[in-house]
Amino acid sequence: MLKGGCDGSWREANNLNELQQLIQGCRGCRLAEERTNLVFGTGDPHARIMFVGEGPGFYEDQQGFPFVGQAGQFLDQLLASIGLRRAEVYIANCIKCRPPGNRDPLPEELAACTPYLFKQIELIGPRIICTLGNFATKTLLKTDVGITRLHGKRFAREGMVFVPLFHPAAALHKPPLKSTLIEDFQRLRGYLEESLFGAEEVPAGGSAGVGEPGGSTPGSGSAASGEGEASEGARQLGLF
Ligand code: URA
Repeated sequence: MLKGGCDGSWREANNLNELQQLIQGCRGCRLAEERTNLVFGTGDPHARIMFVGEGPGFYEDQQGFPFVGQAGQFLDQLLASIGLRRAEVYIANCIKCRPPGNRDPLPEELAACTPYLFKQIELIGPRIICTLGNFATKTLLKTDVGITRLHGKRFAREGMVFVPLFHPAAALHKPPLKSTLIEDFQRLRGYLEESLFGAEEVPAGGSAGVGEPGGSTPGSGSAASGEGEASEGARQLGLF
């Protein structure tokens, strides 16, 4: 059995349905033992815009779809505020199985699971990827810079634009973040209209996660915390 918990044939999947079938029985990390459902992702298989959260919670694990709880309902409202429906975007998570007690995914869980996400990204080919919350942002942009500094900005990498956003759950817990998220979605509407034009280039050294497994240990902040530290990652992202 290869890393990833399947026989490796998933790497050759030609479309999302095939990929889903091939990883459905994944036992690549301990999260497989307690899952009710593997939460693959949902939406338009050729979406221009993709949203990536941290990992499934209780309701997602029960139902097998991402963002079906309260945070998901708020995400639906945010999408509607810019004229989008769930079926027109693609929604996934950094990992596909629920961590016990909704803790942050461990490095070995990310290492086992993010290759599936990168394969999804490759098959979908979105122009824009919105990372929802600190964890997804740190994981996909490989940065230590917190979401508080990055939210609403856009970063060009590998022919795509990454837009870090606060996690909808964070806004439900901290009401002031709600208006920030609503404003950031309006920015996102503009980015969608402009697509790749005008996005800031990430300077060399800030290698993107796309096409690569987990990489450097992700930050320890929870998706809902929203705080971050400026450091090497900030330099890589050209913030200083
Ligand atoms: N939070 C996430 O990050 N992902 C989900 O699917 C649900 C809640």
